[in-house]
Amino acid sequence: MFIREKSELKTNKLYYNFPIILVGYKDDKFNYNATTTSASYSLGNTINIGIKSDSNSTKLIKKYKEFTINIPSKELMSEVEICGLFSGNNKLQQADMPYTIGKYVNAPLIDECIISFECKVIKSYDFEGYTHFLGEIKRRIADKDLVAKDGSLKSEEISTIHYVGCSKERIYRYVSSDNAKTGTFAFGGHTSCG
Ligand SMILES: Cc1cc2nc3c(=O)[nH]c(=O)nc-3n(C[C@H](O)[C@H](O)[C@H](O)COP(=O)(O)O)c2cc1C
Repeated sequence: MFIREKSELKTNKLYYNFPIILVGYKDDKFNYNATTTSASYSLGNTINIGIKSDSNSTKLIKKYKEFTINIPSKELMSEVEICGLFSGNNKLQQADMPYTIGKYVNAPLIDECIISFECKVIKSYDFEGYTHFLGEIKRRIADKDLVAKDGSLKSEEISTIHYVGCSKERIYRYVSSDNAKTGTFAFGGHTSCG
């Protein structure tokens, strides 16, 4: 055990390594669209995402009550920035990203992403300029190479992009190949958690 000395952080936002996702949705003007987000978490069959309330994506997800989650890896950095820096544009076209419409939702699954979810909005609320959506996951798909014969995820092969930083500066970081199984440290690797 050791004690870490602490210093006060002077920032009004702090991202301690959040995975970057591309949220897909139906768009009135461009048919389908996508927006970059780092605010998300998934629990069981649900996922929560947070997007600025005045964004094009929020307006449209509120209207159609459906969205997709698409997980990009390192090769899609320019697509990530296009979908994150050009509000209101036709970003799937601008980034030249092929997509397939969902089986259960009328929203785009981005073909080049390694994992995608189809989601229906259960509820949403606005707070301090952001809209938080709670989605029910209707379907999960992944790159064939990431799916084992029994349909489980080859977790050690996932490579994602993460967002880290504060109000001064934010950077991208990539997942390394350093892995450990859940339960390794407390029980020697034998556990089943949520
Ligand atoms: C790496 C990255 C992460 C982002 N994460 C978020 C986020 O978590 N929430 C959010 O509201 N905006 C986030 N943004 C900004 C939105 O993507 C940006 O406001 C976008 O242009 C909105 O587009 P729209 O108005 O077409 O929906 C992020 C941008 C980048 C580049």
